[in-house]
Amino acid sequence: MKVLITGSEGQLGKTLIKKKPTEIINKQITLIPLSKKELDLSNELSCKELIKKYNPDWVINCGAYTSVDMAESQKEIANAVNARGPYHLAKYLKEINGKFIQISTDFVFNGESNKAYEIDHPINPINAYGESKARAERYLTNKEYDFENIFIIRTSWVIGNIGKNFFLTMFKLISEKQTIKVVNDQIGCITSLDNLAKVCWEIIKLKEESVKIPNILHFSDSGICTWYDVARSIFELAAEKELILNEPKIDPVDSDYFNLPAKRPNFSLLNSQETYNLLQFTPTHWRKSLDILLDSLDDKFLNKLKTK
Ligand SMILES: NC(=O)c1ccc[n+]([C@@H]2O[C@H](COP(=O)([O-])OP(=O)(O)OC[C@H]3O[C@@H](n4cnc5c(N)ncnc54)[C@H](OP(=O)(O)O)[C@@H]3O)[C@@H](O)[C@H]2O)c1
Repeated sequence: MKVLITGSEGQLGKTLIKKKPTEIINKQITLIPLSKKELDLSNELSCKELIKKYNPDWVINCGAYTSVDMAESQKEIANAVNARGPYHLAKYLKEINGKFIQISTDFVFNGESNKAYEIDHPINPINAYGESKARAERYLTNKEYDFENIFIIRTSWVIGNIGKNFFLTMFKLISEKQTIKVVNDQIGCITSLDNLAKVCWEIIKLKEESVKIPNILHFSDSGICTWYDVARSIFELAAEKELILNEPKIDPVDSDYFNLPAKRPNFSLLNSQETYNLLQFTPTHWRKSLDILLDSLDDKFLNKLKTK
C-alpha cells in the first residue's frame, strides 16, 4: 500500500515517517515522502503530476502554509497552499480512487463558544490562516465535487520535540530568560505530534478494515489549558526532573500584549471524544504529554542549553 506524505519535512510529516507501521492488514507500507520542493501544493500541475506518477492509495496532506501571522499579509499564497492545494490533491486522487487525510485546525472556529467544539459546529474563522483552512474544508466536503474517502482531522496546538513549536520554544526561553510573558486568555488544548501521527495511521488501518469513518474528526490531547498553563507546567515538570537550572518569572498576559497581526480565537477546545471512541484510543492528558516530551529530549539538546 502506497502512502504519499506532502510537506514531509514539517513536524507532522517527520513524525508520521517515524511512526510508520510496517504493515496494515498484511499489506506492506511504501512511504512516498515529498517535501515542498518536490510537491508544491500551490501548483496544480505539481499536484497532478505527482499523483499520476506515484498512484498512491492514500495521501496524508501535512504540507501547509502555517505562519498564522504572515498569512494576514499573504492571503493569496496561504489560500493557494492551504485551500486550493488540498482541493487539487483530492481532484486528482479521485481519478485513481485514492483516499485522503487532510489536517485541519481549531482555527476554523471563531472562539466564541464556551463549550468544546463539536464536529458539526459551524465554521467561521477570524484570521486569514483559519480562513484558508476553512476553504479547504468547504472544497473537500462540497457535494458538487462528490469526493469520497476524504477524512479531515481538525487538531489544535500541535507540539513535539522536533520542528518549530511552543513546547521547544518555551523550553528554551525557560532555560535562558529571567522573565517570560505568556498568553493566558486563549483556552484550548495541546496535541502531541506522536499522538496525532498515531491517529492518522489508525484511521488508515480502520478504513482498510472497512470500518466507517466520519469525514470530519476532532483530535487533541485531553483536558483544557491556556498557553500560560502549558508554559508553567513545562517549567514545573522540567524543574522536578532537574532538566533546567534557571528559575524564570513567568507572567500571564492578555493576547493584546504582543500586538500580533492575526487575531486568535479565545476558546478553541475541540471535543475529541468521538475520535477516542472510534479508535479505542486512550487519550493522553495534556500535562502527561508534556511529561513524556520532557523525558524524550536528548542530551545533545539539553547540554547545549545548560552550557549557555
Ligand atoms: N502546528 C500547529 O499548531 C497546528 C495546529 C492545527 C493544525 N495544524 C495543521 O497540521 C498540519 C501539519 O502542520 P505542521 O505543524 O507539521 O507544520 P510545519 O511544521 O510548518 O510543516 C508544514 C510543512 O509544509 C511545507 N509547505 C509549505 N508550503 C508548502 C507548499 N506550497 N507545498 C508543499 N508543502 C509546503 C513546509 O515547508 P517549509 O517549512 O519549507 O515552508 C513544511 O515542511 C498543517 O496542515 C497545519 O495547518 C497545525
